[in-house]
Amino acid sequence: MMNKVELISSLIKDRRSFYPHEYIEGEIPNEHIDLILENANWAPNHGLTEPWRFFVFEKEGLQALSEAQGNIYKDNTSEEEFDQARYEKLVKLPLQSSHVIAIIMKRGSNPKIPKVEEIEAVACAVQNMALTVTALGYGGYWSTGGMVKFKESKEFFGLGEEDEFLGLFYMGKIPRENKIGKRKEIKEKVTWVR
Ligand SMILES: Cc1cc2nc3c(=O)[nH]c(=O)nc-3n(C[C@H](O)[C@H](O)[C@H](O)COP(=O)(O)O)c2cc1C
Repeated sequence: MMNKVELISSLIKDRRSFYPHEYIEGEIPNEHIDLILENANWAPNHGLTEPWRFFVFEKEGLQALSEAQGNIYKDNTSEEEFDQARYEKLVKLPLQSSHVIAIIMKRGSNPKIPKVEEIEAVACAVQNMALTVTALGYGGYWSTGGMVKFKESKEFFGLGEEDEFLGLFYMGKIPRENKIGKRKEIKEKVTWVR
């Protein structure tokens, strides 16, 4: 049996981004989605502001998200810049997924907590989510493209001025074999001070 350090190390290193075109047939059961969200909720956060908010799309909801993503791109892109293939891809992404979770930062009222720290706390929540997805044997990825790039998306979620729409977390069932990850050596990024 693996000890806790071996377990968490293998989970962290096994986590890969899996994209909607890689998902296979079948839906993730909602008990597992609840578990993924429950673990997200245990992220560290400064001042216990708990700034993460999630919209979970499934079933018909995925159709609504698909339409919103397509329309937001189409309505806010000039004719010269509009790319039909990109539009079709954006529409398809939610429909290829089992669930999609919109990642929101809800700005708290404590002015002593800088906005960036609220965003950092949400990123911690998303990592908890991603690791839980891996542990359950599913695939997922955090997208900051598509509708996330458009300020008009904030209206879709009814967000306030100071809130932020930080991404879409796409999820689905995946084939058994994992993908190979790639990172440069940690020693290239660390300075020890002795
Ligand atoms: C904040 C954030 C935003 C990301 N946005 C995108 C994105 O818009 N499109 C994309 O293809 N991947 C996106 N990714 C996933 C990265 O491409 C992926 O993490 C990277 O290639 C490393 O692969 P791995 O996650 O399998 O280790 C994002 C990841 C993070 C953390």
